[in-house]
Amino acid sequence: MGYGVVGSGVAQLLAKNYESIVAHSMQSSLRLKYILDLRDFPGDPFGHLVTHDFNAILEDPAVGIVAETMGGLHPAFEFVRACLQAGKSVVTSNKELVACMGCELLQVAKEHNVNFLFEASVGGGIPIIRPLSQCLAANTISEVAGILNGTTNFILTRMIEDAMPFADALRVAQENGYAEKDPTADIEGYDACRKICILAALAFGQHVAPSQVRTQGISALGQEDMAYAESFGCAVKLLGCAKRLPDGRITATVAPALVPHSSLLSGVGDVYNAILVRGDAIGDVIFYGRGAGKLPTASAVVADIIDCGKHVQKRKFIGWEAGRADFVAPAEEDCARFYVRGHSAAKENALQAALLQAFPGAKQLRRAAAPSGEIAFVTPVRRERDVCAAIARLPGLRPDSILRVAEL
Ligand code: HSE
Repeated sequence: MGYGVVGSGVAQLLAKNYESIVAHSMQSSLRLKYILDLRDFPGDPFGHLVTHDFNAILEDPAVGIVAETMGGLHPAFEFVRACLQAGKSVVTSNKELVACMGCELLQVAKEHNVNFLFEASVGGGIPIIRPLSQCLAANTISEVAGILNGTTNFILTRMIEDAMPFADALRVAQENGYAEKDPTADIEGYDACRKICILAALAFGQHVAPSQVRTQGISALGQEDMAYAESFGCAVKLLGCAKRLPDGRITATVAPALVPHSSLLSGVGDVYNAILVRGDAIGDVIFYGRGAGKLPTASAVVADIIDCGKHVQKRKFIGWEAGRADFVAPAEEDCARFYVRGHSAAKENALQAALLQAFPGAKQLRRAAAPSGEIAFVTPVRRERDVCAAIARLPGLRPDSILRVAEL
């Protein structure tokens, strides 16, 4: 369902590796029977399979597995729920659907003894859903964090390495099929937000809604931040993070952060994604690969189709509980070092003295050609709430940018 970038990649991949896919699925009758889309595709090798009628798929008893690659919540939710209720397993690349309605759809799948799988919803082609829910299941997870959006990582990389203007980098990402239909979802962090919701639900066992994730995109970043970050031995990356607090609650955020060059995540460029999982037995483990694009994402969708083929009349356990309202704590309660860039009309000496009093051990940063009155520094480890309160007391300082320094 949905013959866009990902859906057409699924058809292409099924055809390309048909024999091995059939063998792995253990379903000798596996074949692509319908493509649901509003459009026609004359001349396309699979154009003859196109139907505009969802009921043709729903009511066909020969259809046992449905791949949803339409994106968006509606009508994807109604279509997926109807397929599950009709006893068909569903696989999806739709992160908005899983982040918002995953708990409910997993319950419907359970009630009808079918599978609802979504490996492609996070990290494109990178295996992360299965590793998190199966291979790392023996661990207590304390943190999941990563570069979860290929488009913004591509833009940041081009801006830093090629000095390419933001708009040009976005256009190239769109031409390559990385960006969402509305790239605001990439730029403003909403896409990464949906992905961290899914990872947090799997890692911590409770539904985390997008509205519970403090989300900030990359549109307010300036070249100044890149330069100061570099002077501090860091790269600026858009990170999705979910972290367990000592009291058992979690915080969940999407925001640009300073990632030290000593971290593998700092070198993750272009459309690549990387996801770090921190477990009590495994320590840190990182999953890396192409986080967006036609065939990488199709790779994960088809793997789920194969898994559904192997699990007819059997269920793969994957799921989480409905979330408690107080499970996600305000992000301000978490501690970190913070990078602060701002400007002040106060005399530099007076500001520096106040800065060191508020943040003993703070490190002031320098960059070439900084305008007079600009100041940038990195705080010691503090609770975010306290950092913001202390900054408000610094004489005349107007902060332009406050970013976490990631510990990854
Ligand atoms: N727009 C998304 C990205 C696609 O750039 O990562 C993959 O989810």
